[in-house]
Order: sequence, then structure tokens, then C-alpha cells
Amino acid sequence: MTWLENIDADKETSSLLRSIFQHLTDAILVLDQDGFVIGANPAAEQLTEWSSQEMVGKIHFCQICRGVATCTAEATCMDCFTKKMMAPSFEMKVLTKSGKEFPVAASSTQLPHRSSAALVVVLRDMSEQQKAERERNLLLMTNYVIQAQEEERKRLSRELHDGVGQALYSILVGLNVINQVKMDEQMTNHLATVQQMTARALEEVKSLAVELRPSALDDLGLVPAIRSYMKRFEQIFGIELQLDSKGTRRRYAPVVETTLYRICQEAMTNAAKYADTDKLTVSIHDSGDKIEMCIADQGKGFRLDQVEAAGTGLGLYGMQERASLLGGQLTITSELAKGTTILVSIPLDEKGEHIHVDPRTNR
Ligand SMILES: Nc1ncnc2c1ncn2[C@@H]1O[C@H](COP(=O)(O)OP(=O)(O)O)[C@@H](O)[C@H]1O
Ligand SMILES: [Mg+2]
Repeated sequence: MTWLENIDADKETSSLLRSIFQHLTDAILVLDQDGFVIGANPAAEQLTEWSSQEMVGKIHFCQICRGVATCTAEATCMDCFTKKMMAPSFEMKVLTKSGKEFPVAASSTQLPHRSSAALVVVLRDMSEQQKAERERNLLLMTNYVIQAQEEERKRLSRELHDGVGQALYSILVGLNVINQVKMDEQMTNHLATVQQMTARALEEVKSLAVELRPSALDDLGLVPAIRSYMKRFEQIFGIELQLDSKGTRRRYAPVVETTLYRICQEAMTNAAKYADTDKLTVSIHDSGDKIEMCIADQGKGFRLDQVEAAGTGLGLYGMQERASLLGGQLTITSELAKGTTILVSIPLDEKGEHIHVDPRTNR
């Protein structure tokens, strides 16, 4: 550590400096006038993967640097901080001996021209923080997208019900009035066909409106909404359904009810589409501090690893995202020829609100 020994300091100060240099968890690189490393503490060795011996006098700072940016701009090599002082702290990408690149928070201090040491650069690994921040942002965005999607579905459902639905109903009433008029047989038959078509269209619009956002979910709550969904589901797919609801019956925060309803809808649709089964069970259990829901079929089953590897499985991913946004857990278990079980658990407080970790504040 010759550069340190050259510093004009008494024994005690120099031993203190040495100890700080050795034990600081931030990486310290000391550079000479030309930008060559003349000192590196153990944290810098760990960060760059170069040993002090390999670096000193041989490694130029440019070999470690993969670009620098301040909070306002990217800096080019032309205005490198080693030649021209920029903001005292900045972000930098470090290139390690083995070729890994990762972000660090850096600061540099120019030293007065007294010794060979011209510049001290302090580096702190930011990859973990940046990863955590990226995950937090992703969670936040997912949350916004899900909420926006729910709002849009609500709006469309209302529009369909109150707009097209009402119009079709009025047409149906009008056709009934026309039906009172005396007509020849051909005309009567024609009118009957139009009446049937209109009635069918009205049913389809109603069913679409319910699919988009069942009013039962807002008016009556989770279990009645799922029960009514199951009735329609039985009629459409001819699958026998069983609903077990245990524990406290109460209303939950709207986001909890929507989340569980959408997960149930996706799991049931998957079973109808892929499981090749005629039986499906949904169980809901409110044990006070958490609500659990299980959707199980005894159908074909599937290989979860294959779905994940293929990068498909948006529905399964969506279910997991929805649960984790409420601090909950969703487990998918599937075995070929045995069936599939989706188990979701959401922690609750005594008011039926989710105990939720807000991704913005982490509280
Ligand atoms: N209950 C189930 N039984 C059998 N296979 C299933 C079941 N649920 C999901 N799968 C399989 O997992 C895949 C991914 O499902 P999902 O993420 O919902 O996507 P999607 O429904 O859009 O295909 C399906 O294509 C299917 O192969
Ligand atoms: Mg699906």
C-alpha cells in the first residue's frame, strides 16, 4: 500500500487510515494522474474480482468502467470524471475480471497534488437495490393494470347492460306489440323468428355483461357471485360443480372479492377447457385471519414446468400476480391423469381487509 505509506501522517493517523481503508464495505480505488489504479481495498478486490496485485500499476480505470451517468445525463469518455470533475456522485457500470457488468453508485474525490494519488473513487454495488426497485415497479404497474382492467370491465358491463341490453329489451317489447296486429301466416312466422333472435341477443348481452363484471359481486359478495357463476357454468359446460363454503360469512374489501372471483373464474375456465372432466369442486374457507380458496378437478392434469418453459401460461401467471398483490400465495399442483388443484390464500385483518404490503411504501 505504498501510496498510503507516502502520505505524510503520524503513525496513529496512518494506522487509522489503513484500518478504514481495509475495513470499509464500500470499494475504494485510488488512481494516479493517468487513471491507473495505485490502490484498492479488499472491498474493491471483491467488487472487481481483480486482486490488488493484479490491479496496482497495471489496470487502468477504463478497464473497469463500462459507462457513467449522472442523474441528468449520460457521460461520454470525452468528459470522463477522471479528467473533468462532474457531479460528485454518479452511477457507473462496472466490468469485472470475469466479464460481469453491474451498476454501482460512485463518488469521486480529487486529491491535492501532494502525492502520487490523484483521485479516490468509492463504489457501492447497487444491483440488489436496483433489482428490488425493478420488482417494486413491476408490482406497482401490475397493480395499476389490474385495477384499470377491472374499472374498464365495470364500465363495459354497465354500458352493455344499460345501453344495448335496454335497447334490445325495448325492441322485444315493440315486437310483442306488433304481434297483436293481424298478419298473414308468412308474416307471423317471420316475426316469431325475429322475436327469437332478439331474445337470444338479449341473453347473450346479459351474459357478457355478467361475465365482464357480475353485479352480484358488488351487491352480494364473493360466495353468492361465485355460486351464480357456477350455475351458468354448469349450463354452458355441462360440468357438475360443488361449492363448499366454511367459516365466517362476511364481506371483504372489494379488491379481495374481485381477486378471488377472477382467480376462481380463470381456474374454472381452465378446467373446462383443458381438464376433460365432468366434476369440479370449489371450496372457500374463512378462518378469520385468512381466506383460502381451492379449485380442484380430477381431470387430465398438466406439467407445470413445461408450461413455464414454453413461456405460455399467462392465465396461471395472472392468478399468481393477483394473489401476490394482496400479500397472498397461490399454489398450483397438477399431476398427469390425476388432476389439478389451485389453492390460494390471502391474509386478512379482522375487518376482512387484506393485510397488504403497499409496493410503493413497502408497508
Ligand atoms: N385444470 C387444468 N387441467 C389441465 N391443464 C391445464 C389446467 N389449467 C391449465 N392447464 C394447462 O396450462 C396451460 C396454461 O394455462 P393458462 O395460463 O390459463 O393459459 P391459457 O388458458 O391461456 O392457455 C394451458 O394451456 C393448459 O395446457
Ligand atoms: Mg387460462
